[in-house]
Amino acid sequence: MHHIAVLPGDGIGPEITREAVKVLKAVGERHQLDLVFSHHLVGGALLDAQGVALTDELVEACRRSDAVLFGAVGGPKWDHLDMPDRVDHALIRLRQELSVYANLRQFRLYAGLEDASAVKSDRIAGGVDFIILRELSSGAYYGQPKFREETPRGRRAVDTIEYFDFQVERLARYGFELARQRRGKLTSMSKWNALESSRLWRDVVEEVAGQNPDVDTRHEIVDAGAMNLIQRPAEYDVIIMPNMFGDILGDEAAVLTGSIGMVPSAEISLDGTSLYEPIHGSANDIEGKGIANPIGMILSAALMLRYSLDCPDGADVIDRAVARVIEDGYRTADIRRSPGQQRVSTSEMGDLVAAKINE
Ligand code: IPM
Ligand code: MG
Repeated sequence: MHHIAVLPGDGIGPEITREAVKVLKAVGERHQLDLVFSHHLVGGALLDAQGVALTDELVEACRRSDAVLFGAVGGPKWDHLDMPDRVDHALIRLRQELSVYANLRQFRLYAGLEDASAVKSDRIAGGVDFIILRELSSGAYYGQPKFREETPRGRRAVDTIEYFDFQVERLARYGFELARQRRGKLTSMSKWNALESSRLWRDVVEEVAGQNPDVDTRHEIVDAGAMNLIQRPAEYDVIIMPNMFGDILGDEAAVLTGSIGMVPSAEISLDGTSLYEPIHGSANDIEGKGIANPIGMILSAALMLRYSLDCPDGADVIDRAVARVIEDGYRTADIRRSPGQQRVSTSEMGDLVAAKINE
């Protein structure tokens, strides 16, 4: 039996999460998996109900589960709140509570979505298929000190980019392991020409690279890397980078795939429950309209089958089902570019993927 904590959250979170659960149930039937879902409020939804965006009970419920399926949190309604009460801070804290350290973001351009990619066809002709492995336990998000103060010179705010060698090392090791299962190439991006933490980053990655001579390792300075990634995406296989760079380059890289709504992610825990969520946010402007793309969330559920529930076959089945639905010409609004493509709603897209799984 697998216990899955489902945290739909805010904005389009609930709409897309519903579709991912639908698809997971279809896979469960096909592969005789006994999946037990428990639903919980989080973020703004929990704040409205109980006054806080994350509770100890919720953290415990997640810890007791085998995996967490997470939609999105936040919205204009709660934007006036400051740290640490901000609704998105609930996610930052939940990652910490669950000892998440690596965020595996999977970028793929599905056949048929070339016209939706924001990048010219000659640039994507070599294919888009890479992973950004974002460090998720430290860096600018968690480094101390972190504060605001009034000073004679004006208001002052401080964030700290902090890395210990062991934090870089464990992420790098995971990156090399993934690269070895894929095309054997690892690119490390950091800002080692300007930041001390990035110099440590590069040193540690070099050390780990020495123990992985079979993997082709490269170091890129992140600003140039951000450009190269868009111009020559086929050069990349596994890319590792510090927390904040991974946040930024993740959204940037999404334009290659057609829509940020296509990109899934796994947030791997050191010792227990991992979290699965699409890389996009709550997209409150399209909430409730039935137009959100659930594919990033559905593919996140596939990553859950692969990395937490020991069902790689189920994950492959979802990947193939999504590829076939796109081949058949079905598109949510964000990835539709021509009249020949059949426009479908969020729930229709979920139905189509689930139906392919049952075939
Ligand atoms: C993401 C999001 C979060 C992050 C926000 C909501 C705190 O942008 O998962 O990429 O910055 O990590
Ligand atoms: Mg982000």
